[in-house]
Amino acid sequence: MDPKAKRTALRGITYGLYIVGTKDETSVNGFAGNFLTQTSFAPPLVALAAKAGSRSQQQIAESGVFSVNVLETGQKDMVTAFFKALEPEGNTLAGYEFYTEETGCPIFKDALSFFECKVVDKIEKGDHFIYVGEVINAGVHREGDPLTMKETGFYYGG
Ligand SMILES: Cc1cc2nc3c(=O)[nH]c(=O)nc-3n(C[C@H](O)[C@H](O)[C@H](O)COP(=O)(O)O)c2cc1C
Repeated sequence: MDPKAKRTALRGITYGLYIVGTKDETSVNGFAGNFLTQTSFAPPLVALAAKAGSRSQQQIAESGVFSVNVLETGQKDMVTAFFKALEPEGNTLAGYEFYTEETGCPIFKDALSFFECKVVDKIEKGDHFIYVGEVINAGVHREGDPLTMKETGFYYGG
């Protein structure tokens, strides 16, 4: 296989960019993720890939839950704050206020909308592990156009 062609072709996959909320017994966390897609209407399922060995991946594997925060176009600064390891301060992560509902994973007030998932299956292969989440709760904070990977100029894939 031609590695340049592989990279170019895989980078042709279009993505959104989300803040995925995670938790463990003592804390909560959030990371910027684009490896996310819906995979079923009924039941509503999504597939999320989390970097193997990262704190977030371990939290998803252990807690069996995660949240997905859908950001608005223009919220590049917010998503960029979630590229690094974080510790919550009160009810904020990276300075952004969150609350919790069904799963205990962070839901950000500044996001357009959110959904929460219960892990129903997993494929622990490759350098990112895939978690299939059943959407068990969702909410909308306001109307708007979602943030896209393209507008940020970032790449995570190839
Ligand atoms: C543009 C971009 C997209 C990313 N997408 C993902 C992703 O889909 N899955 C993932 O596990 N990490 C992704 N990351 C890395 C995470 O945001 C984060 O840096 C990493 O998981 C470490 O987080 P943690 O140690 O707090 O768990 C992405 C990073 C960037 C810059």
